[in-house]
Amino acid sequence: MTSVVVTGASGRLGRAVTARLAAEGFEVRALSRTRRADGGGVRWAVADLTTGEGVGAALAGADAVVHLASAPYKGGYTRRVELDGTGTLLAAARAAGTGHLVYVSIVGVDRVPWGYYRIKLAAERLVRDGGVPWTTLRATQFHEFAAEIFAGTARLGAVVADPELPVQPVDVRDVAGHLAWLIERGPSGEVEEYGGPEVLTMAQAARQWLLSRRSRRRLLRVRVPGRLGRAFRAGHLTTSARPAGKITWEEYLAG
Ligand SMILES: NC(=O)c1ccc[n+]([C@@H]2O[C@H](COP(=O)([O-])OP(=O)(O)OC[C@H]3O[C@@H](n4cnc5c(N)ncnc54)[C@H](OP(=O)(O)O)[C@@H]3O)[C@@H](O)[C@H]2O)c1
Repeated sequence: MTSVVVTGASGRLGRAVTARLAAEGFEVRALSRTRRADGGGVRWAVADLTTGEGVGAALAGADAVVHLASAPYKGGYTRRVELDGTGTLLAAARAAGTGHLVYVSIVGVDRVPWGYYRIKLAAERLVRDGGVPWTTLRATQFHEFAAEIFAGTARLGAVVADPELPVQPVDVRDVAGHLAWLIERGPSGEVEEYGGPEVLTMAQAARQWLLSRRSRRRLLRVRVPGRLGRAFRAGHLTTSARPAGKITWEEYLAG
C-alpha cells in the first residue's frame, strides 16, 4: 500500500485530501501541531515544521508527501513555516528516501506582486532544488477561502468586490482528486496548474454569494488599487490549464 504523509492536513484542502486519499486506499499519515484522534482511515501524528518536532519520524517509510502546511499573513511566522519548514521537510524526505514530494502553491505567485506570493515562489524554488523528486501544483482560490472573504467583508456592513477582477475558484474536493492522481502518476519535476471550471468576475462571485445566503448586504464595487490591482485585473489569478475542477461556485454555494 502506498503511504502518503500530508502536512497541513487539518486545513481547508488538507481535510479533503486526507479523506480522498483514504477513500482511494492510500495509507494516510496526517500531520498537525495538535494531537488528533485517528479515524476514517487517517492516522494523525504531531509535527511542527518550524521546530522540526516529529517531522523525521513521520516521514520514515513514506512513499510520498503532500505538502499543504502554510501560515499566510503572519509576518515572520509565515516565512518560518513556508521557507524554513519546507527546508526541514525536504531534509527529512531526503533522509527517508521519499520518492515524491507534491507542493501546493498558488496560480499567479510568479506574476502578482504580493508578499505572501513571493514567499510561495521562494518555497517553490526550494522544492525544485531540494533533492527530492517533486511536482508543484499551483491552484486557484478555494471556494471556502472565497466564501470566507465575502463573509468577512459582509460582517463589516457590505460585500466588497472589484468588478473587473477575474477569479476562478476551485473546489477542494476537485483539487484533492487531482492530487491523488498526481501521486499515482509520480513526480514530473514541473510546476503545474489547476483551476476551477469557470472564470467569473469577483463582483459576479460576490453577487452569487449574496443570493445564496439570501443576504441583504450591499455589494460595493471597488477597484483594488495600484500594481496589485492591475496584476489581479490582468487575469493572473486564473489559468487555462486542463484538466480543471468540475464543481462550480454556484454548486458549492448550493452545498
Ligand atoms: N486557501 C486558498 O484559497 C489556496 C489557494 C491555492 C493554494 N493554496 C495553498 O494550498 C495550501 C493549503 O491551503 P489551505 O487554505 O488548505 O491552508 P489552511 O487551511 O490555512 O491550513 C494550513 C495548515 O497548515 C498547518 N500549519 C501551520 N503552521 C504549521 C507548522 N508550523 N507546522 C506544521 N503545520 C503547520 C495548520 O495545521 P495545524 O494547525 O493542525 O498544525 C493548518 O491547518 C497552502 O500551501 C496554500 O498556500 C491555498
